[in-house]
Amino acid sequence: MSAVAHTARMLPGGPVAEAVLADVRARVAALRDRGVIPALATVLVGDDDASAGYIRIKQRQAAELGFVSPHEHLPATATQADLHAVIAAFNADPAVHGLLVQYPVPGHLDYDRALQEVDPDKDVDGMHPLNMGRLALGMPGPLPCTPAGIEALLAHYEIPVAGREVVILGRGATLGRPLAMMLAQKRPTANAAVTVVHTGVPDWPRYTRRADILVAAAGVPGIIQPEHVRPGAVVIGGGVRYEGRRLLPDVDESCERVAGAITPRVGGVGPTTVAMLFRNAVAAAERARSRMP
Ligand SMILES: NC(=O)c1ccc[n+]([C@@H]2O[C@H](COP(=O)([O-])OP(=O)(O)OC[C@H]3O[C@@H](n4cnc5c(N)ncnc54)[C@H](OP(=O)(O)O)[C@@H]3O)[C@@H](O)[C@H]2O)c1
Repeated sequence: MSAVAHTARMLPGGPVAEAVLADVRARVAALRDRGVIPALATVLVGDDDASAGYIRIKQRQAAELGFVSPHEHLPATATQADLHAVIAAFNADPAVHGLLVQYPVPGHLDYDRALQEVDPDKDVDGMHPLNMGRLALGMPGPLPCTPAGIEALLAHYEIPVAGREVVILGRGATLGRPLAMMLAQKRPTANAAVTVVHTGVPDWPRYTRRADILVAAAGVPGIIQPEHVRPGAVVIGGGVRYEGRRLLPDVDESCERVAGAITPRVGGVGPTTVAMLFRNAVAAAERARSRMP
């Protein structure tokens, strides 16, 4: 039992993910009706139990949504060239619409380099440099999953973003940087005044304390304490660190006493991230269908 009095409104990611996945399921069914079987390929390198578990969960969910998921499992001794060859084969296969390389890969391999080999049209993570460039330019394309999930979560709970001040702690490529680009864009679920703080801003609490919406994206357990939160603010916990299987969030639980609304320690941003992966995958299959004669 937690000793913390829960005063803030909770913002679980589960219902957001369910709404997104209901839409994905319908779109997958519509594609199947037109003879296209959406395929999300997965690649796993090595024998890490946790990674194998994550892949299994995604494959199960893919099957439940109506995707097929061809899978390639490379041994831990695979070379960078081996990994690139598998990616190239999936890139070349017109029956494969999306491609996911499970993170992490064994230490001798360069994951970021491998991601650059993925066909940008099949990039369900939305992290390919071309897609990050599209995001920066406001062009359509697959969006990075974690920030897209946060925008969807804010929209789902009808939390006004436009015209309000969003402060993001962290400028990492996965979360803080793309989220800042997204929430500053001119559309109804964004259009915010966005400030990004990081280790180069030692007095970052000065900024977080004035935020209407505070997003933790640092990966430093407990870095956000109640004194960093404006009373009544919306607090989104994106950053986490794993110690073994234990998940340690950036946002200390005691922030629930100060925040007006807050994501739960577990089941907040995580489920929305996975839902966005499938949203990117079905969109990739739809794009492929639209290119067919
Ligand atoms: N919930 C999910 O589904 C999900 C999915 C993906 C990622 N994540 C989490 O999101 C977090 C961010 O990932 P990322 O790859 O975007 O970031 P990252 O590359 O790990 O960067 C972390 C950022 O936080 C800043 N930071 C770290 N310690 C700080 C401190 N003491 N004071 C101020 N700023 C600090 C860093 O500042 P500098 O730039 O100055 O170093 C950096 O900008 C990670 O915890 C990751 O696990 C969660």
